[in-house]
Amino acid sequence: MNSNMSKTLIIGASGNIGKLATELMLSDSQPVVALVRDKSKLEDLSSPHLEIVQADLEGEFGFAFENCEKVIFTAGSGGNTDGDKTLLIDLWAAVKAINYAKQHQVKHFIMISSIGSDTPDAGPAALRPYLVAKHMADEHLVNSGIDYTILRPAALTDDRGSGLFRTDRPRESAQQVIARENVAQAIKYVTGNDSLKGQTIELFDGNQELSNLLQ
Ligand SMILES: NC(=O)c1ccc[n+]([C@@H]2O[C@H](COP(=O)([O-])OP(=O)(O)OC[C@H]3O[C@@H](n4cnc5c(N)ncnc54)[C@H](OP(=O)(O)O)[C@@H]3O)[C@@H](O)[C@H]2O)c1
Repeated sequence: MNSNMSKTLIIGASGNIGKLATELMLSDSQPVVALVRDKSKLEDLSSPHLEIVQADLEGEFGFAFENCEKVIFTAGSGGNTDGDKTLLIDLWAAVKAINYAKQHQVKHFIMISSIGSDTPDAGPAALRPYLVAKHMADEHLVNSGIDYTILRPAALTDDRGSGLFRTDRPRESAQQVIARENVAQAIKYVTGNDSLKGQTIELFDGNQELSNLLQ
């Protein structure tokens, strides 16, 4: 890997969105440090621009931030775990990542948050603990002093990414969805655009290119 190029740490690089984002960055020859707890999940990726670090987010992972200018947090406890993992990953691992980023003077932190985390009390009861965790992690990032962009995707689908988006919330809840492939494209776009620092952006599948929507 060319040590002079700015490296991006992707936390949750073995996840659905994380792996797609990793592949997109690598296809553009952008140096990636992929943080995973199981290296075998990335064994099909081969690139001179890829460095894999193994760590459990429930422990220490500050070493992974060494020489990384940008950080993408796209880890999550998933829908099939109990509330304790929501606390430990969606809230506490995110807070630890933000603190590590501050210690390492990271220049841009991209947080994959969620639609509804602005107003957790308005969400469905079963989702409220998750939305509170996301809300507090986002607030910690905003108050950290680090340059950040918070992406709040709608409900995720495995549809093919259209490359087309909207950022205003559709009235119909059935339209409040976004393909994971589209989220990965948005991550790459935001990571390369310093002008989007300081913004919190909701994301939906739509009919416009990001360059028309995001300034
Ligand atoms: N589901 C939705 O509709 C929705 C909507 C909006 C936003 N989001 C957010 O979107 C993000 C990514 O979604 P996704 O579908 O890509 O999720 P995913 O496939 O479940 O990926 C989650 C990632 O977190 C990692 N992870 C979990 N616990 C870990 C631990 N203890 N140590 C290390 N890594 C750990 C997983 O690693 P393993 O591969 O080892 O399990 C995986 O890489 C999440 O932040 C989620 O909250 C979801």
